Amino acid sequence: MKLLDYEKEHMNRVREGLPECMVLLKKNGSFPLDEPGRLAAYGSGVRHSIKGGTGSGDVNAHFTVNIEQGLKEAGFELISADWLDHYDLCRATAKKAFRKEIKKEARAAGSNVIMYAMGAVMPEPEYDLPLDYSADAAIYVLSRISGEGSDRRAVPGDFLLTETEIRDICTLDAHYDHFMLVLNTGGPVDLTPVEHVGNILVLSQLGTEMGRALADVLLGRTVPSGKLATTWASWEDYCPEVQLGGIDDTYYREGVYVGYRYFDTVGKRALYPFGFGLSYTDFSLGESRITLGGSTVSAAVTVTNTGSFFGKEVVQVYVTAPEVKLQKPWQDLAGFAKTGNLMPGSSETVTITFDIADLASFDEARQVYCLEPGKYIIRIGTSSTDNKPAAVISLSEEIITKKVHAIVPKADFTEVQYERTLCDQDLSALPHMELDPAAFTPVSVNYVLPTKAISPEIKALSDEELAYMAVGHFSDKGGLLAVIGNASPHVAGAAGETTSKLTGQGFNPMVMADGPAGLRLAKEFYEDEKGMHALGAGSIPAGILDLLSAPLRKIAKKLISSKPPKNAEIRTQYCTSLPIGTALAQSWNLNYAHALGDIVGSEMDRFGVHLWLAPALNIHRSVLCGRNFEYYSEDPFVSGKMAAAITQGVQAHAGRGTTIKHFAANNQELNRYFNNSHISERALREIYLKGFALCIREARPLALMTSYNLLNGRHTSESRGLIEDYLRAEQNYTGIVMTDWVMNITNLGKAYAKARASRVAAAGGDLFMPGSQADYDHVLTALKSGMITRRQLEENAHRVLALSKMVTQ
Ligand code: BGC
Repeated sequence: MKLLDYEKEHMNRVREGLPECMVLLKKNGSFPLDEPGRLAAYGSGVRHSIKGGTGSGDVNAHFTVNIEQGLKEAGFELISADWLDHYDLCRATAKKAFRKEIKKEARAAGSNVIMYAMGAVMPEPEYDLPLDYSADAAIYVLSRISGEGSDRRAVPGDFLLTETEIRDICTLDAHYDHFMLVLNTGGPVDLTPVEHVGNILVLSQLGTEMGRALADVLLGRTVPSGKLATTWASWEDYCPEVQLGGIDDTYYREGVYVGYRYFDTVGKRALYPFGFGLSYTDFSLGESRITLGGSTVSAAVTVTNTGSFFGKEVVQVYVTAPEVKLQKPWQDLAGFAKTGNLMPGSSETVTITFDIADLASFDEARQVYCLEPGKYIIRIGTSSTDNKPAAVISLSEEIITKKVHAIVPKADFTEVQYERTLCDQDLSALPHMELDPAAFTPVSVNYVLPTKAISPEIKALSDEELAYMAVGHFSDKGGLLAVIGNASPHVAGAAGETTSKLTGQGFNPMVMADGPAGLRLAKEFYEDEKGMHALGAGSIPAGILDLLSAPLRKIAKKLISSKPPKNAEIRTQYCTSLPIGTALAQSWNLNYAHALGDIVGSEMDRFGVHLWLAPALNIHRSVLCGRNFEYYSEDPFVSGKMAAAITQGVQAHAGRGTTIKHFAANNQELNRYFNNSHISERALREIYLKGFALCIREARPLALMTSYNLLNGRHTSESRGLIEDYLRAEQNYTGIVMTDWVMNITNLGKAYAKARASRVAAAGGDLFMPGSQADYDHVLTALKSGMITRRQLEENAHRVLALSKMVTQ
């Protein structure tokens, strides 16, 4: 296959960081292998390797090197070809039965099969195929896929392992001296039944180069240096309150006790805690030197490679805050730093700096962020459980760091409170420091935003033109097209763009394309006088097409992928596929995130995309959320830092911007358009909004996408409290706010209504996406009837025009 120079360069840069995204969970010293000998490679992921999840987060890569190919290229002789062939047959049979079942279920639920089946995943089948024990070494690649539209399930073949997998993994581990269990999954699976296995590697889903990257690691040409960004535990051990909701309502009863905040507070040890990851070598941390300057804490720690292999380590700083009136999790991550590549015996000192004000808790009763008086224990280590107190910082009086007002309606339920069960032993030998209350300047937010001067071009627009500015470009063919990726006349396969109606008047459309695992465009397209037309896989995912009846499939294909005229020139465009969000977070390497952003930015330059619909930084609240693979972590600090670094990489390219999404509390796929997340304002601010705020502060993303869900009874896209008060007043956010891709579907049988373009505009939302005739009519009618003011539409349009000028001219 011929690759262009930019493709080669981008792939090489991506590949360099892939071992950093892999997390070694267990090791017994039998890896890396000395040479690529005879290898028995089993499991679904060897041939059906999963490069990333499904839906809009799936990147249409030029090619993918699966694990089988990657191992062969590296010189391994695979002795398991027969097994792999037979597995293919079992899988094909299971798939047939699964499709039948899904269609039946959709009919029974009275649902459209496309909507019902979106992201639906076939659980791994059970089978019994003979294993061969004559190789030099063996691996078992267990894979799982998930995606937009459906959540994962705690059943065998999905979150749980199947009997077949458990049997085969345990047998291989018993027979082989060199056996590695490789997890090609987008998130955790319950590893309890195979916990005793000697070597376990979270490969994750790493894009096109994954097969090669795994071969490198097995052979010790590179080493895994990732750390979990989400807790891996037995299913029974996760917080029982963190349920994916019913159809209509999801109650976030666990409050701030998400992920490790729950495990550490209640004193439960997860199988593999947040922040955990081994290496082929070992490290030791020297004494740390903690200093305090005003409210800024700095921790300098020397890391030494004490083993016999090269590698990298991640130092993590956690803080245990005092509990006075507010109950708090045992600890919060406050900072981290990754070393460079350390050779055996060598050392590096890393310095981690953070502002203690960023750890303030939110007191809902008083609507303030505050630091309670008492001892702040600074803990340093290499995971959330493997850390120890390094210094004590005392605060003599309460500090209010910020005064705000309520941004969402009050939640109508009671949260569960968890008592801390851990306590620190004698801390008297540690360095003690005193925080000076004068070091803090309390912020009082002014919610009355200064009146904007509206540009004369916007003032001159007719009501109709203003209404066009408020919705995305729509084609006569309707909303479905927009969602499945054929909605931009300017760039084939882009997810949408702003209106073209005013192009003659100097308002250029801004083109938006999905991510986050790269730039999602169509690989093949042709152009005619109407614009670009995506061909083939640029549009509807094959998995969904599979589920349609033959005639329906034909119609769908025709609708989404126009047949090129006979003499049309078929052109190609290839985007680099990146590791999924969760894998990137596992690298804990902000330079790598920046580098990936730079790759995306340069491909946006090349293909003419202005806004990337990524990064996605929703919180891994439940391990079952179908889109977790796109998101980073259960921790808002890690999420915000990663999103900021990748944004900086993209936006280093003039005229290219990120669209951080989905704002906010979009934590399940079940009934995603109409589900209502019920959250206390404290949990909302401390967990679900915090990463967005951090990314805005550090990287100033040009755009933001609201989520589909409602929050305490109101669509996030229609929430003035979230858009105007939180984003614009509290965070000084100056970018544009667009909706997620709201389709023209009905809320039949659902408790809550669809988000409406007029209410979005009235709340200060700038763009209703992807846009349709009905949405446009809706805005115009609302304007004519006085439901929305012309002034508000002008302000929204002003922001859109300013950005469009910045990125298109
Ligand atoms: C997804 C978004 C995506 C948009 C455009 C929606 O269904 O939720 O993440 O950016 O489609 O493709």
